[in-house]
Amino acid sequence: MRLSLRFILPLLLVLAGIAYAIAPLVDKLTLGWFMRDIEIRSSLIASTIQEPLQEQLAANKNAKIAEFFNRITQNERIYAVGYCPDPTGTVLASRWLPAEIRCASLGRWEGPGHHLLPSAQGPLQVAVLPMVSEAMPAGRLIVVHDMSFISRRSEETNRYLFYAFMGLAAVISLITVVIAQLSWRGWMAGMRSLLRGEGLLRRPEFDAQPANPPSPPGFKPIARDLQRLIQELEADTRARDESQVTWTPEALRGILRGELSGEDVIVVSNREPYSHQRRGERIEVQRPASGLVTALEPIMRACSGTWIAHGSGSADRDFVDKNDCVGVPPDKPAYQLRRVWLSAEEEAGYYYGFSNEGLWPLCHIAHVRPTFRSSDWAQYVAVNRKFAKAVVSEAKTKDPIVLVQDYHMALLPKMIRDELPNATIITFWHIPWPNPESFAICPWREEVLEGLLGSSILGFHTQFHCNNFVDTVDRFIEARVDRASFNVTFGGKSTAVRRYPISIAWPPEAEMMEKSVADCRSSIRQLNDLPQEHKLGVGVDRLDYTKGIVERFRAIERLLELNPDWIGRFTFVQIAAPTRSGIDEYQHHEEQVRAMAARINTRFGRQGPPPIVLKIEHHEPREVYGYFRAADLCFVSSLHDGMNLVAKEFVGARDDERGVLILSEFTGAARELPEALVVNPYDADQCAAALHLALTMSPNEQRDRMRLMRGLVAEYNVFRWAGRMLLDAAAMRRRSRLTDKPGTSTL
Ligand code: G6P
Repeated sequence: MRLSLRFILPLLLVLAGIAYAIAPLVDKLTLGWFMRDIEIRSSLIASTIQEPLQEQLAANKNAKIAEFFNRITQNERIYAVGYCPDPTGTVLASRWLPAEIRCASLGRWEGPGHHLLPSAQGPLQVAVLPMVSEAMPAGRLIVVHDMSFISRRSEETNRYLFYAFMGLAAVISLITVVIAQLSWRGWMAGMRSLLRGEGLLRRPEFDAQPANPPSPPGFKPIARDLQRLIQELEADTRARDESQVTWTPEALRGILRGELSGEDVIVVSNREPYSHQRRGERIEVQRPASGLVTALEPIMRACSGTWIAHGSGSADRDFVDKNDCVGVPPDKPAYQLRRVWLSAEEEAGYYYGFSNEGLWPLCHIAHVRPTFRSSDWAQYVAVNRKFAKAVVSEAKTKDPIVLVQDYHMALLPKMIRDELPNATIITFWHIPWPNPESFAICPWREEVLEGLLGSSILGFHTQFHCNNFVDTVDRFIEARVDRASFNVTFGGKSTAVRRYPISIAWPPEAEMMEKSVADCRSSIRQLNDLPQEHKLGVGVDRLDYTKGIVERFRAIERLLELNPDWIGRFTFVQIAAPTRSGIDEYQHHEEQVRAMAARINTRFGRQGPPPIVLKIEHHEPREVYGYFRAADLCFVSSLHDGMNLVAKEFVGARDDERGVLILSEFTGAARELPEALVVNPYDADQCAAALHLALTMSPNEQRDRMRLMRGLVAEYNVFRWAGRMLLDAAAMRRRSRLTDKPGTSTL
């Protein structure tokens, strides 16, 4: 309807304008015709009345002549008639002959041309015609025509002309709108089939098999080009939009409200953002050490919605409502946490077993052999199904936006897709994805891949991991892999594989930065019995073998061997959050770390502060930030890490632009923070040199490096990470509506 109005109104206006413009031309033309008619009429009148007039003139009956003329003027068009016997005589005339017309001045009305005389009644046309007679002296007959009928006719003509044009406009509009509607539908259908890769032309035999009809091969390239063009246009728009957005919680909320019309977001992860722990009589709320939680928590605060996770805290059950939900953060609830309960058996098989003894070492190249047990796999499948049910029960619409997190939930995307075909499922894999050869050892590799391909979008931290994933799919399952667009089509559904480098909230929470750097430096040194001028390094990790803590300690030992000056002048505080301690490998790793720290301390710490302070306990984020602000350097030596948010948190904590970051080249973060001292954690000498360089770096160089890194983390913050995924999801939803395949369109 709006389209029709938008088209008809301008058309009407244009045609009215044309009618208005040509009216004077039509007037001029018709006036010419009328004048010629009148001239002919005047001659006719003259020849008709010549004889009776001459008779009366001969009889000298002037009164009769006037009466005769009056009779002639009864015709409505003839205004007056007169006769001049000669130029000096008096005019014999009917009523109404205008006073201007006198025998002496008849010359001005003679000759070619239209002789018009204005009058109160309207224009008059004066014709002077010579009367030719052999019997009498020649006189001149005057015929005055009333021209007012011409302007009446002209008005009528213009009116009819206007109506005719309006009618024409209406007919043209109607025909055009009908044709446009028909061809728009046809065009839309054509576009849909093109976007589905079906081509424009459908042969009747295809219509008999509506599911996945074959497409005329000739149109496939066009469809692909069209899809690519749309992708490029959208990428352009996205780049333009993104460069104009300052990524804040408000910007993210704006996207949700605007682009996604206020859709609720459901996040699913194994680890919960807050756990309630019983400590004797006391209940403690804990924020776990998890990069995933660090990144997603500010997103959920900004977006509201529901976060579904395993309720693993010892007092978790006491704090939920009848739907197993609790508002969090506990002091100022901003979103719902829905807790899913797992039995000890489920937790053992799904979490400790397949997730952390199978997939975790499989994806991290940290030289720990993965262990795969079919009993673990069975629990993994069952628990993923349990989470899928929770998603379905939490979804308020048929097409929710579900953010599936990490390797614990590899089967969930497909399970959700089966239940909620219209959902937009964004899966983020927080850990690395290995090459196909490494992944091949997983006995359920096809099932894992097929589960993940239930996602609308599948995100990794780096392009390298996207490439590995696509190569793995290509190797092991029958899917169509488009390497130009990085879309994988499997079972008629498409998954966009994309790089979204994760980050931290910017600026960091004000609470974390409350205490000044000077206060942190002095209080942390005091707490650890270190002199105020003592050099301090810090490491903050879960006690996980992938974090390279053993390699880190080896580098510290090497530093003290190579530069004994640092003995007693430098201490490294290692905060290590206990993690997955039910797994042998983790227990063994803890023993190894403890033993190594003790050995190095015995070797170099006899006469003063120890080189290593090992704190294997949970620290709340506020305490961790205190260490970051107090330290001269932070050492991240992961053997393999998807991103590593500790590196970014250290940078975020240093608003004084001081401190040096030493960063493993095997972290995703190293690709974004080249101003760190980037090292190979397996190379102890290189790491020792980096430690020495960090401890001796001038304040100016520290500032220059830190300023660049802070600029990057500020710009590429976690709101951008989530915002980009949600913008892509929004674009996908818009396109899905066009192609009638909600949730699984190409991107
Ligand atoms: C990594 C994983 C997260 C996990 C975190 C902590 O960052 O990618 O999914 O939450 O480690 O591990 P945990 O087993 O304690 O949840």
